[in-house]
Amino acid sequence: MGSLAGRVAFISGGARGMGAAEAKLFVREGASVAIADILDDRGRALAAEIEQGGGKAMYVHVDVSLEADWIKAAAAVRERFGRIDILVNNAGINDRQTIMGTSPESWRKVMAVNVDGTLFGLRAIAPIMRDGGGGAVVNIASTAGYSGNSFAAYATSKWAVRGLTKCAALEFAPWRIRVNAICPGLVLSELNTGQPYIEPMAKATPLGRAGDVEDIAKLALFLVSDASDYITGQDHIIDGGFTAGLVLPSAPAK
Ligand SMILES: NC(=O)c1ccc[n+]([C@@H]2O[C@H](COP(=O)([O-])OP(=O)(O)OC[C@H]3O[C@@H](n4cnc5c(N)ncnc54)[C@H](O)[C@@H]3O)[C@@H](O)[C@H]2O)c1
Repeated sequence: MGSLAGRVAFISGGARGMGAAEAKLFVREGASVAIADILDDRGRALAAEIEQGGGKAMYVHVDVSLEADWIKAAAAVRERFGRIDILVNNAGINDRQTIMGTSPESWRKVMAVNVDGTLFGLRAIAPIMRDGGGGAVVNIASTAGYSGNSFAAYATSKWAVRGLTKCAALEFAPWRIRVNAICPGLVLSELNTGQPYIEPMAKATPLGRAGDVEDIAKLALFLVSDASDYITGQDHIIDGGFTAGLVLPSAPAK
């Protein structure tokens, strides 16, 4: 029996990247998964691949910035699987603009997907979890939500996700729903393929490499499983030590 046997997980942005890695890992641990995305072909293909492997999966089209999409998809998932125990608010975008380079439209788009999307996910799924006796939510923030950086809307949106996580943990604790945030550092995915910061950041990471999507999926699994059943309202940084501090050239490890 896997650690998620009998549970149903809803993963936004689940068609690729971290969301897809979480879908596959959760299925291996016994969960049924709903993969929600705007990449319909990839999402459907992943759900089919999981089903062909003997797992239970479905694809639902959800633009996370539209609350109506969430409500429709949540109802479809409850109809198919009967319950929802786990939500990963993972869908996210980055416009990579400075403050002076950010247009109002681009700012609104990043906020709509990263922040509104997280809010709408909570609003659509938490009542279904409550009806099933509780659940666990993981919101994917970022280490960009721990400091400033050159991407103004993205960093601001991820600070907001951390704040919303704490509000949700307080509000939903009486419904036996735990809510935590994961704050990844650099992770190799299609979000940042070819970006010039990958190599310098990987080199500056104490553990000597960028993260991969499976690193994040393993932490997500811990946070949605009973292994973390007294943890809620917290941020969990996973970055190979990048934010731990500076490695000074004069103090090498001996
Ligand atoms: N890759 C990194 O270095 C990194 C670091 C920290 C945090 N994150 C965060 O991790 C999460 C996953 O990112 P990833 O690296 O796997 O990137 P990714 O681009 O591979 O995956 C993001 C997924 O979200 C989906 N998505 C985008 N807009 C959507 C919308 N409006 N509605 C529904 N789905 C939508 C995409 O189609 C895609 O499947 C994001 O929230 C991202 O901000 C990524």
